[in-house]
Amino acid sequence: MRIIKTDSYEKMSAVAASIIGAQIVIKPSSVLGLATGSSPIGTYQDLIKGYNDGVYDFSHIKTINLDEYVGISGENENSYRYFMNDNLFNHVNIDKANTFVPDGMAADKAAECERYENLAGSLGYADLQLLGIGQNGHIGFNEPLDYFPLKVHEVGLTESTIQANSRLFDDESQVPRTAITMGIGTIMQAKRILLIAGADKKDIIKEALYGKITPQVPASVLQLHRNTTVVVVDE
Ligand code: GLP
Repeated sequence: MRIIKTDSYEKMSAVAASIIGAQIVIKPSSVLGLATGSSPIGTYQDLIKGYNDGVYDFSHIKTINLDEYVGISGENENSYRYFMNDNLFNHVNIDKANTFVPDGMAADKAAECERYENLAGSLGYADLQLLGIGQNGHIGFNEPLDYFPLKVHEVGLTESTIQANSRLFDDESQVPRTAITMGIGTIMQAKRILLIAGADKKDIIKEALYGKITPQVPASVLQLHRNTTVVVVDE
């Protein structure tokens, strides 16, 4: 595991974008595993800048996102599909047909989970998977549990995640209670992993990277991945 320390959110974002950018340059048909949340916004802005400067070409890139809330559609501005369109896809030359996010409105959730897992497999899983981390160590929406869920599944969000994510909704009652997320196994299939974490994640990052490997701290499983880079803000 490589750990890169930066001293600001801007530098963390620039480093992360340059790693993703290098992946795009080296393999223009890469499958990028993407994440939502506040952490990757700066990274996406720097990728857009690289695209505008003519450095990155997204025309052959495919993307597969980690997760989506259940019960809100892609037109809802709190959905992760909306977030991705708004923060990245609408600003680069990616073919939206090559961008994948779970369908939180699917009538049959179990079938949607199976479809999404098979989709990840048929793409050969991510060449590079970008991850943020929750305050409780969650990755995607894999919340602390007593086992590591392997595949894409529907998950109940913990109270702490609902509260943390409520800042983006009008009020807490509107935060969906469940989500569809890649499993830990789906994430671990990625050839490379890039975890980014701001200064507010210092304690959980220490626990995840240097503590015991346990499903109670889902991100701790990354210690077992053979090609993980972590970019942190360490002020
Ligand atoms: C959400 C997402 C995660 C993300 C986490 C941290 O719950 N499902 O993928 O990593 O929040 O978000 P933030 O970067 O806003 O702290």
